[in-house]
Amino acid sequence: MKDLDQKRGFTTSLGAITAAAGSAIGLGNIWRFPYTLGQQGGGAFLLVYLLFVFAIGLPIMMSEFVIGRRSQRNTVGAFRTLGPAYRRWSFVGVLGIVAAFLIYSFYSTVAGWTLNYVLLSSNGALSGKTPQEVSQVFSTFTSGTWAPLLCQMVFLVLTAAIITMGVQKGIERYTKILMPVLLALMLLLCLRSLTLKGASAGLSFLFKADFSKLTGGSVLSALGQALFSLSIGMGALITYGSYIRKEDNLFKTGLCVATADTLIALLAGIAIFPAVFAFGLSPASGPSLVYEVLPNVFNSMPMGRLFAVVFFLLLSIAALTSTISLLEIVVLWAVEELHCKRTAATLVVSLLIFGLGSLCTLSFGPLSGFHIAGYGVFDLLDRLTATYMMPIGALCLTLFLGWRYPKAEVREELTNNGKLKAGYFRVFYFSLRYLAPAALVIVLIMGILE
Ligand code: PHE
Repeated sequence: MKDLDQKRGFTTSLGAITAAAGSAIGLGNIWRFPYTLGQQGGGAFLLVYLLFVFAIGLPIMMSEFVIGRRSQRNTVGAFRTLGPAYRRWSFVGVLGIVAAFLIYSFYSTVAGWTLNYVLLSSNGALSGKTPQEVSQVFSTFTSGTWAPLLCQMVFLVLTAAIITMGVQKGIERYTKILMPVLLALMLLLCLRSLTLKGASAGLSFLFKADFSKLTGGSVLSALGQALFSLSIGMGALITYGSYIRKEDNLFKTGLCVATADTLIALLAGIAIFPAVFAFGLSPASGPSLVYEVLPNVFNSMPMGRLFAVVFFLLLSIAALTSTISLLEIVVLWAVEELHCKRTAATLVVSLLIFGLGSLCTLSFGPLSGFHIAGYGVFDLLDRLTATYMMPIGALCLTLFLGWRYPKAEVREELTNNGKLKAGYFRVFYFSLRYLAPAALVIVLIMGILE
């Protein structure tokens, strides 16, 4: 405990920004965002998504930073530490721990696939294949038993290894190197995609808003995507907020993270859609978009094998910086609340995740017939967390900080005790108190009625 307190925190503001951006940027941006946008019709979805990110997402992200940095505690201990009167709000933190656990379980399945696609691309298993054969490779692999389980396990071990090294040595050092590499690789990919013949059709799909394609359901999925992509509503950013230095500017940190997250999602779109259209493929092919469509695209490109390796490596790196934050939420809680050793906590949590996670992985194969409430294990956890737990968590956070916690203290934390100017405060507080809770209630109602 003493050891942890002394070492607590990121050493630079850049470290804080890259770590939080690393949490936000992940499979959500590069795998989930393009396929959701593709299914929901393109440009109009993008506009709504952007609106949600900056009008609602950013204030909630700042709220998590405020709670984390002010309390210097894990997501459960944070509320109690802010004041004995807020002890009852600890349930929000508990909800977050459970959500992190569930998200990590199914997220590591997809992360494992990604890792295997680095291998498949580099050894040429996807080269020179027809689209049908490429799909066959995907379904043969994901419906297997040992190969996808092994990939998932490798990913869990990688994440655990970084977490055991602790905050400064592990999270900050690695994300500081990994994030710029990710950005560079992404730009390279966009460049290649944009120079393909027929690329412009993909660009207009992405950027031309056709509002007739917008339905209640697509607005809902845009909001859900915004929450998931920014890692909001389940304590990830309370945990990271507790590591941010007292002299850092929380508004600037939040703005940088939200902007970087959006930028990477946009770059993913620019890398994927022009290529999809240039090769006459469907933008609406769903969660398989990245794994089934892109290898065909790569196959038809000069140096496609190299680009494929680069792309899936990039996706693995992005997923890793997100799983680091998912595991850290649970581990910091176990260290601070249950007084476990960091290494022991990491080991036990990772083993438990592997237990539940393997059910998610096997739900594409041997367990595909096993359903709970009509869903396979993977789909159930995905739906439970993104559609219900994260919006409920986010709603509780806005109610706590907007209605329960003193406004003066929120302002004090955001201005570093009055040292910083906060011209944005009125707009921020309005969103926190009215706009965000109202929007979240609508999302939840739409989600339940669907
Ligand atoms: N935001 C991450 C992504 O886009 C997923 C995530 C959700 C990570 C919640 C941490 C907490 O991939």
